[in-house]
Order: sequence, then structure tokens, then C-alpha cells
Amino acid sequence: MNIRLASGKEIPIEMHKVRIVQKIHLRSVDDRLRALEEAGYNTFLLRTRDIFLDMLTDSGVNAMSDNQLAGMMVADDAYAGGESYYRLVEAVQEILGYKYVLPTHQGRAAEHLIDKVFLKPGQVVPTNYHFTTTRAHIELLGGTMLEIYADEALNTQSTHPFKGNIDIQKLHDVIKKYGSEKIAYVRMEATTNLLGGQPFSLENMRQVRQICDKHGLLLVLDGSLISENAYLIRQREPGYAQKSVAQIIKEMCALADIYYMSARKNTCVRGGMIATNNERYYLQLRDWLPVYEGFLTYGGMSVKEVEAMAIGLREMVAPEVAGCAVEQVKYFANRLLEHGVPVVTPPGGLACHLDARRFLPHIPQNQYPAGALSAAVYLASGIRTMERGTISTDRDPKTGKEILADLELTRIAVPRRVYTISHIEYAVDRISWLYKHRDLVKGLKFVEEPPVLRFFFGKLAALDNWSKTLCEMFKKELGDY
Ligand SMILES: Cc1ncc(COP(=O)(O)O)c(C=O)c1O
Repeated sequence: MNIRLASGKEIPIEMHKVRIVQKIHLRSVDDRLRALEEAGYNTFLLRTRDIFLDMLTDSGVNAMSDNQLAGMMVADDAYAGGESYYRLVEAVQEILGYKYVLPTHQGRAAEHLIDKVFLKPGQVVPTNYHFTTTRAHIELLGGTMLEIYADEALNTQSTHPFKGNIDIQKLHDVIKKYGSEKIAYVRMEATTNLLGGQPFSLENMRQVRQICDKHGLLLVLDGSLISENAYLIRQREPGYAQKSVAQIIKEMCALADIYYMSARKNTCVRGGMIATNNERYYLQLRDWLPVYEGFLTYGGMSVKEVEAMAIGLREMVAPEVAGCAVEQVKYFANRLLEHGVPVVTPPGGLACHLDARRFLPHIPQNQYPAGALSAAVYLASGIRTMERGTISTDRDPKTGKEILADLELTRIAVPRRVYTISHIEYAVDRISWLYKHRDLVKGLKFVEEPPVLRFFFGKLAALDNWSKTLCEMFKKELGDY
């Protein structure tokens, strides 16, 4: 929720109070350099003891509510038939409108099962944009993802309200080219994580649904960030201002044949799930669930988290929960823009994204500008961010050639209900300082490169020792911290 101060300035006010705290540490810039070198310039490999603000991701790191914690105490830990599962099914029916529910240990496990059942080698999956794990599962099973976003989606300086839309003409073209039998399913991701948390409109989803109906295609909705997509529809789509987030979510879900989500985001727990109203699809998926995840009533999740997920689903439709990250991200992005720092616009759902190509125009893509920027942000602030660019895009598995990413983004995630405006002001200050000294930052090169999802465990080195020069400048101007 935003509040207008007497000065006229608007701030996103936290609609919760802190009841449990975790100590965090601000290391000196020399210590940060040591930690980053040990981590091979890969922020995934840093330890939290060396991190001040952990803005790597919004996944599994959100603050749970008191009700969720209370729910965990009464979870039913039966191996089979546990009541927590049935409470989850009731919550899914009430909030998402689906009858059948399959918990999974996290979102990528849902992707794995969906592809195992619905994708045959050689088939394609048209989508508004890929997510790393989604693409990996599709490719591992011999399929191909086709991204059919509108050209505007890649414009990082846009005012377009729905950069996550599927381009309808491109969908027609794909169907014409491949024929419906070669299309495993059409996938819509709400909001598009790697495009900067950009939403799609309900109008766009309705058009996609009509086309799927006409051609007998399955529509799969990745609802990992559905609350934010619905919140942004309410703010941006004509005709939706008077509808609640809950109504919009129901409307979105009614258009999909199969729904899945990482529950680590909107519902603030560690888990995932698949849901549908189609009994046949449910049974096809259910039979594989114990093979890869666990029995139906826990699906690889802790039952405590199953119970908390049921509560989290009901909470995620409240505007102050659905909008808490969106409003902080908007504030963050606008404050950086005031300092001239290039961020992705319009601000989206899960994170404030720095446009590394505009921040570091002197670094070619094969020297990983977004990776270098993530490393530099850590050195300048102790804030951990995530590279979402060429490092996050694996090489072509057939030729081994580097695939240059569409976008080079440094994602500064805003976990829900975790950080305050003073944390964000600190981030704005240090990133603006870094922007003034951007010429000191140079590229990276791989020294250890795993063959799949290399961004998780890959190790890199700084070209020309730029990190030392940057740290020296930091100490000269700002001291040790
Ligand atoms: C849109 C989207 N889909 C799928 C996933 C994978 O979910 P998980 O990390 O729970 O495996 C994520 C995770 O960030 C995501 O953002």
C-alpha cells in the first residue's frame, strides 16, 4: 500500500510489523573482495555471513505470516491421507478454482512432471518467455521452447504496461509452421521473471485461450508470480480497477487447463504444485508423482509447508500482500532513475532490474556485463543480486557456442515483507555511487563452467583485476564500509 506524506511524496508503507528478526552483517569492502574471489565472482556461491542485504532472489526467502507459522504447528504428518493436504485442496479450490491438486517439492519439479507427461521429443512449447528451469526441462526431454513475445518486451526503456503478453500473430505463425500435433502445449508465465517481472493482460490471455480452443491446444499457466501479475492487471488494465486481486486471479486460472507454481514466492513457503480441473490430466500426472516427488498428500514437501501453503494461498490475494513487492520495486526503480541509473521500465513484479548493457556499455556480451555488474554491486554494497543475462543462458548444447542473451539484467530481488525502505535507500545510494564509477568495472571470464545451468556453480575471474581498482576507489571515497 502507498501512503502520501504531508510533503506530497508517496512511499510504500509496510502493512506488517516485525516480530522475529535475523541479524545481518555488513562486511568491509576488503572482506567483500575476499569473499567474492572465493565465490568465483558468482553471487550464488557467496555465504550469507558475507552478505548484507540478500537480494539474490524472492524465492523461498519471503517472510511468513504469524498465521502461517501457527499453521505449521498443527500440520498433519501422516505419510498418506494427511489432513494438511486436504486443507490445501480446499484453499486451491477457493482461491484458484481448481479441483485437483498435486504438491511438488518446488516449481521445477512441477515442470519436470508436466513435461514428462505432455511433451514428446521433437515437440515445441510456445511461451511468452522462458524461465531457466522451464527451458532446461523442455530441452532435456527433447523439446524446444519458442518465445513469442512482442518486440516491445525487450525494450528496457518502455512504458508498455504488458510486456509479458504473447504476440498473437506470432502464435498463429507457430501453429501454421508446426501444426498443432507438434505443439506440446502453450505456456504463459505470470509475471515473466526473466523479462523483469513484466505482466501479461487478461485480454491477451483470453485471446490465447481462444486460439488454443480453436486448435485443440493445452494452455499451461505458470503462476509462480500470479499475485503480482493480478495486482498489475488491476492497476494497468482498463476495466479491472474495481475488481479485487482475488477475482482477477480466479479469472486468470479459469482460462488455463493446467496450472503450476513455485510456492516459494507468492505463498512464502518452500514447495510447489500442479492444479487442474481435468481429471484425465490429473490422473496422468498423479501416477508419476510418487516416482519423482512423494505420495500425493505431500508430494516431496514438508507437511508443515503444505499447511502453510494453504494459508499462504488465501493471504496472497490480499492487496497489501500481492502489492508489497510491486510497490517497493516501483519505489526502488524510481529512486534509481532519479540518479540516472538505467533500470528496466516499467518496474515489474519481483525485482528492480538494472540494465547492464546501458550501465556498462563498454563490456561486450561475451564478457558478461550483467555478471560483472552483480559482482560490482556486491563489492560496492554487500548486496547480493543475480545475473540474468548471458551467464544464465547455457551454451548451445549441440554446437557448444555461446548464446548471447536477449537482455543483460542484474536482478535486485525484493523478497516479500523482508526489507524496509531504509534498506532500499542504502541500495540506491551505493548503486548510484557505482554508476558514477562504472568505467572502473570490466568484464569476467569463466574459469570453471558446468555444462547445464552454469550460472549456479560456474566460477569466473575479473578481467584486468578491475575489482581491486574498484575497491580502492570505494575506500578512498567512502571508507571501509
Ligand atoms: C516463473 C518461474 N517458474 C518456475 C520457477 C521454478 O520454481 P522453483 O525455483 O520453485 O523450482 C521459478 C523460480 O524462480 C519461476 O520464477
